[in-house]
Amino acid sequence: MTDQSGRMRVCILGAGGLGSVIGGYLAHSGVDVTLIGRPTHVEAIRRNGLRITGRLGEFRICQNLSTVTTADAADGHFDYMILLVKSKDTESALEGAVGLRPRVDTVLSLQNDPLRTDKLGRWIDPRKVIGAVTVEGGTLIGPGHVDNHLTSTTTAYFGELDGTESIRAKRLATAFTNAGLNSAAVDNIMQVTWEKLTQVASASAWSISTLPAIRTLYFVDGIKIREGAEHFVQLTKELLSVYKGLGYEPQNFFAPFSRLKEIDSMAFEDAVQSSIGVGAYMQANSMQSRTSMHDDLLRGRKMEAEEIFLPFIDKASEMGLSIPTVTAVHRVATVLNHYLKN
Ligand SMILES: NC(=O)c1ccc[n+]([C@@H]2O[C@H](COP(=O)([O-])OP(=O)(O)OC[C@H]3O[C@@H](n4cnc5c(N)ncnc54)[C@H](OP(=O)(O)O)[C@@H]3O)[C@@H](O)[C@H]2O)c1
Repeated sequence: MTDQSGRMRVCILGAGGLGSVIGGYLAHSGVDVTLIGRPTHVEAIRRNGLRITGRLGEFRICQNLSTVTTADAADGHFDYMILLVKSKDTESALEGAVGLRPRVDTVLSLQNDPLRTDKLGRWIDPRKVIGAVTVEGGTLIGPGHVDNHLTSTTTAYFGELDGTESIRAKRLATAFTNAGLNSAAVDNIMQVTWEKLTQVASASAWSISTLPAIRTLYFVDGIKIREGAEHFVQLTKELLSVYKGLGYEPQNFFAPFSRLKEIDSMAFEDAVQSSIGVGAYMQANSMQSRTSMHDDLLRGRKMEAEEIFLPFIDKASEMGLSIPTVTAVHRVATVLNHYLKN
């Protein structure tokens, strides 16, 4: 429900790195945003505004932005609720947000979890759930401060789960685009979802198995090295075999970083050269970026390895496909997760 001045109202359940970047830019563009986050972050924003640094420069956002620490404290009715806690926290966050349920028209999640729309559909009338995917990069630097380090030509996609067109998906895509987050409404959101998962699983599996022993390294530092690119191509080809087994052909929805089409169509050596080319592009554009799984590992926080790798391992097993490198990285991640805090 828009407010009295006709503004769209959005609440973000789990305003950490990505949720604060998205909520902050939406508020800056005139959307009425409520961030539901942790007390230290909320208190810092209340004191000094939300600071966003990164690819669009520096912002301090105070207007159109409310902050609360519980869903019950979020005031009024919302056009959209965006779920952005880490996947491990989905159930507890939704449980704590029962009071919000009758006050939201449309719900969506931008998490990297293939089961997220099912989880939302069990929490609320499934007709209120739409699909959503983004590659936008946000990291919580400290209370009240997030960094926005990554985007792509089209950074977010929205769509009905049954593939029909809808005003609500188009309206949200327009709001994101107006906020500097170039977005599209599509009729194939499930394919975009699996393609994004393929991309994030390959980048995450690669990062956590290649870079974290040296804490200062970014994605670009490993992918520009031949052996790094070889490991990346091996992981990506295995993940692509599952994606294609589901009946999809790669489209590079998240160009220019996605090279899934090229890696799929090219022989191994050519794909390695293409991946080294991504590294050169990132270096030329001074792009220092990490996957959120790599960030979590560096911060000593549990990684979303179960949610991101297991669906591929399970699907591969169902389809009789062999993905040994992905399976090996999942094993390593499981050992590390055993010792990381929630
Ligand atoms: N970050 C990215 O660049 C990016 C890009 C695409 C997709 N994603 C996906 O987006 C999701 C969020 O990622 P993120 O990096 O933004 O995670 P994050 O920085 O950890 O943000 C999640 C925030 O939600 C808070 N939270 C957890 N439960 C809550 C509750 N019940 N009420 C209020 N706040 C709660 C967390 O606090 P605590 O830390 O104290 O638990 C944390 O501050 C993940 O599924 C990720 O895979 C991230």
